Formats: sequence, structure tokens, C-alpha cells
Amino acid sequence: MSVRTFESGPSPISPNQSMISDFDFGDTALADDIQQQLGQTEHAIVRELSCGEPALEEPMMHLTTSGGKRFRPLLALLSSQFGPRPGCSAVIDAAAAVELVHMASLYHDDVMDEATMRRGVESVNLRWNNSVAILAGDYMLVRAWSVLTRSQLDPVLKVSALTTLSESATALVTGQLRETVQSREGIIEPEQYLQTVTEKTASLLSIAAWLGAAYSGADETVAKTLSAIGEAIGIVFQISDDIIDVAAPSDRSGKSRCTDLREGVATLPVIYALRDGAATTRLRELVSRPITDDNEVEEAVQLIQSSSAFAESRAMMERYAALAHSHLATLQPGVARQAIGNLIDFTLARSN
Ligand code: FPP
Ligand code: MG
Repeated sequence: MSVRTFESGPSPISPNQSMISDFDFGDTALADDIQQQLGQTEHAIVRELSCGEPALEEPMMHLTTSGGKRFRPLLALLSSQFGPRPGCSAVIDAAAAVELVHMASLYHDDVMDEATMRRGVESVNLRWNNSVAILAGDYMLVRAWSVLTRSQLDPVLKVSALTTLSESATALVTGQLRETVQSREGIIEPEQYLQTVTEKTASLLSIAAWLGAAYSGADETVAKTLSAIGEAIGIVFQISDDIIDVAAPSDRSGKSRCTDLREGVATLPVIYALRDGAATTRLRELVSRPITDDNEVEEAVQLIQSSSAFAESRAMMERYAALAHSHLATLQPGVARQAIGNLIDFTLARSN
């Protein structure tokens, strides 16, 4: 069954790109609990960003209140169902912290991509400028650690959480840099792509799941299993994002269409299309540099669409979704396990 949107919950924001309104939790009581906890997470995020300095607050609130899927908080909250304190205040802090790191990375990513649109509104780099977007992202990043530092937790667990979040943010930066360098250097293999997306995307989903479970007091084995599920979901998520970049119109994605393609980023559909004989020569010519001409962008899209790229990318997503399901099968059966199973399938179906 579907559940209410954020608008009816106690949330200070009205996300216009939220996935929650479409997501089937499979259980009404669980859906209501998570909905309420997502509202608390929004309050925690807004609290952290309320610095009283309009020059910073306005650009930070611009995207925060424009929506977003809140995928990472959702995974943290669902994972917390496997411990004795689901949705406790420390779990809410963890959900807020991972979303803050994620938003910080998007503010920086939009500068790097020269993006014009995010979450269905003007990107911060366009509406303000690159410096404001970078500094707003910096502020968000620092607040993520601040939330976790103030959490009411056992000190040993707190140090472990802070260390793990540091490692995850380090992986994000490394993955993003790897993507930038690889795109500049030219053709890459699917294995290199997988390493990059494991770092730049899956690492944060992995820690979202681990933090949610650990902060609610789940066993370490269970937390590690959820972390592995988060990582596999993260890879499925990024591949679907890369398909959406090429295949979906802006009004569906809420982002500028074909940003990766225009910037010459080696996403999985492009990598596979370049290995498919029919598309190779002309596509290689087009993607060997940033594409500025709209006709050339459309030509590249056509070449990718007429190749085996989407089918092969989907097959890769299915492999990681199956991996996530196989980890999930080892956890305690119940409504939370069912909901995470639905989340895996939901992520897989995003780019259909
Ligand atoms: C979005 O991917 C971007 C990321 C997943 C990571 C970006 C990381 C950085 C900019 C490094 C800085 C990191 C921190 C922690 C501040 P995408 O470009 O494929 O997706 P999009 O279509 O949403 O832009
Ligand atoms: Mg981007």
C-alpha cells in the first residue's frame, strides 16, 4: 500500500521530488512510523542549517526545502528497525547527518557539472554563484559531524560512527575525483566504473544503513549485513541515475537532462554503448570531449538508445539487486525486511 506524502506529516518542508509518496512500505504502521521519523529528520536538518546568516541560510535552504528523495535517511530509518531502539533520537541524528553529507556533495557536484537545475529548481551555482555553492556545501558537511558529535551515545560507538562517516566522505571525494580523471582520460571498463560508483555513491548508502542499525542497538553482524545491502542498493541507484541522465526528460528527473553526457562523464550506458560495434565510431568521437551542441547531444542519445547499452546496464543493476536481496534473506523476517526488499525493487524500477 502507498502512504501519505510528507505534506501531511510534521515536516517543515514539502519535497516536490520525494519518492516516498510512491513507495510501498508494505505495512501501514511501519509506514506511519517512518513517515513521522522522516519529519523529525527534516527538523534536525533545518535546525543544523539555521545559522542566522541569510547569505548562507538562503542558499542552503534553497535545495533543502525544494525536496529530494531522502533516500539515505529512509534507508537509515528502515535499518534502525533491526535494533531495539528504532527511530530513537540518535538514529534521527544519523539520518540527518548522512543527508547533510549527501547535500554537501550535490552542492559541490553541481559546481563541477556546471549544472543549471537540481530537484526541479535552479541549482545554487546558477542562482547564486560557484563560491556560494561551495561554501554552502562546506557548511553542510561540517554540520554533519557536528550532529553526530552531539548525539546521546555510548562514546565507543560514537567514535566508530565518526570514523566510519569520515571514511565514507573520503570515498565520496576519491570516487568523484576518479570519475573526473577517468572521463578526461577516455574509455574506461565497467569494472572501473563499478569501483568509482561504489565510492562516490554506494559508500554513503552503506554507512546510512550501518549507522541506522548500529545507533538503534542492532548486533554488529546485522549492522554489517545492512551495510552490505546499502552498498549494493547504492550501485543499483547510481546505474539507474545514469540511465535516467540519458533517457528521462528534466521534468521527471528534476535535473538538467544529459548533464553527464554533456560533461563527457563515462557513465555505464556510455561505456556499454562504446563497446557495441554499431554505435562505436561516431559515439566515441562525440563523447571524447564535452558536448555543447544540442543536436550532437540528441545524436549521442540516439546512438546510446539504439545500442545494447540500456539492456546491459539493466542487467548489471539486476545483478546488484539480487546481491542485495541475498544479503537481506539472512536477516530476521518481518515488516522491516519486507520494506527493504521493496526498496531494492523500487530502486531497480526507477529508470523503467
Ligand atoms: C552525484 O552524482 C554526486 C555524487 C554522488 C558525489 C559527488 C562528490 C563530490 C562532489 C565530492 C565532494 C564530496 C563531499 C562529501 C563534499 P552524479 O553527478 O552522477 O548525479 P547527479 O545526476 O545527481 O548530478
Ligand atoms: Mg552530477
